[in-house]
Amino acid sequence: MTDPFAHGQLNLVPFVSVHHMMELVLEIGVERFLTELTGYIEEDFRRWEAFDKTPRVASHSREGVIELMPTSDGKHYGFKYVNGHPKNTREGRQTVTAFGVYADVGNGYPLLISEMTILTALRTAATSALAGKYLAPKGARTMALIGNGAQAEFQAMAFKALLGIDRLRLYDIDHAASEKCLRNLAGLGFDMTVCGTAEDAMEGAEIVTTATADKQYATILTDNMVGAGIHINAVGGDCPGKTELHRDILTRSDIFVEYPPQTRIEGEIQQLEPDHPVEELWRVITGQAAGRREAGQITLFDSVGFATEDFSALRYVRDRLAGTDHYVNLDLLADPDEPRDLFGMLLRFPGSSLLASRRRA
Ligand SMILES: NC(=O)c1ccc[n+]([C@@H]2O[C@H](COP(=O)([O-])OP(=O)(O)OC[C@H]3O[C@@H](n4cnc5c(N)ncnc54)[C@H](O)[C@@H]3O)[C@@H](O)[C@H]2O)c1
Repeated sequence: MTDPFAHGQLNLVPFVSVHHMMELVLEIGVERFLTELTGYIEEDFRRWEAFDKTPRVASHSREGVIELMPTSDGKHYGFKYVNGHPKNTREGRQTVTAFGVYADVGNGYPLLISEMTILTALRTAATSALAGKYLAPKGARTMALIGNGAQAEFQAMAFKALLGIDRLRLYDIDHAASEKCLRNLAGLGFDMTVCGTAEDAMEGAEIVTTATADKQYATILTDNMVGAGIHINAVGGDCPGKTELHRDILTRSDIFVEYPPQTRIEGEIQQLEPDHPVEELWRVITGQAAGRREAGQITLFDSVGFATEDFSALRYVRDRLAGTDHYVNLDLLADPDEPRDLFGMLLRFPGSSLLASRRRA
């Protein structure tokens, strides 16, 4: 297949800025984007064994974490740089920002560089909805959404697009965050209630999404708040020492994870013994393990975010980008006329001081 981005200039790499990502998402439509992206993520979970897998490489500090998330399917390679700093919103910054690279394994050349702050919110929501498709009670319409920050609306939109969720019960310790969510989602097909407590938000919910940010073992949900048959989509506990659920909920739930070696370090299950049984999402998707088996079962998707999901997101964006003008080409890779003459390229650069000093000598 010919490369849709081929232009004969090896130095250029397509770059998707935040501006371009917003254009692309809006042109496709948020719900359609989420649905198609979920398809790509699911497709890659189905070929799980084809991927190189490693827990992400995390650099922790007192204030947060910076992580690198690499993977490859042998043909393409992808990685994401992502941070998590819960205090950031108080300084006008995002808790989570990211960018990523998608490359050709055959020659190591990048094929795409992209903003991934918006893309991470979309892929996290898409992955949650994908897990929900296999784990949530059939016909669920009501979701409690606890933590109404940057991820929240994306989660709501993905659960609407893929599962038909149209009733939201919003709760955040900061009432202004819930009000923001209410404003942003108004007119998009939801019946919404802002709740005064997390307990109140759980009233009548068939699914609960927790997407709070705090760098501690928090207890957003206690055992008494979780009734039989609910599906828990736990998004915010994604770092050592950063969880959202009381341990007793975990021991009552059937737990589903992305990649156990990473989730045991970062997920809710860091609170459990290292051999506590968990099921891998890819095994459910491929039919090798059961998802929801019965109405009374409590299912928990202990989401932390795995590299293949970012790989799928970059793969999707690159496919959707072809033929559009929602990118620019960056002069990223040095491309001397003769590959080994890298120094000569510097020497011959117009106005090179190297050449001038040689002339003087
Ligand atoms: N699992 C994944 O793949 C994944 C991906 C992206 C982000 N995350 C995590 O999701 C969480 C949310 O991310 P974000 O970008 O929306 O953060 P954000 O800072 O924009 O929003 C977090 C919200 O949680 C609220 N909150 C904090 N403590 C609370 C509590 N006890 N009860 C109710 N609300 C509370 C805050 O007021 C804030 O509005 C973060 O912890 C982030 O690390 C996980």
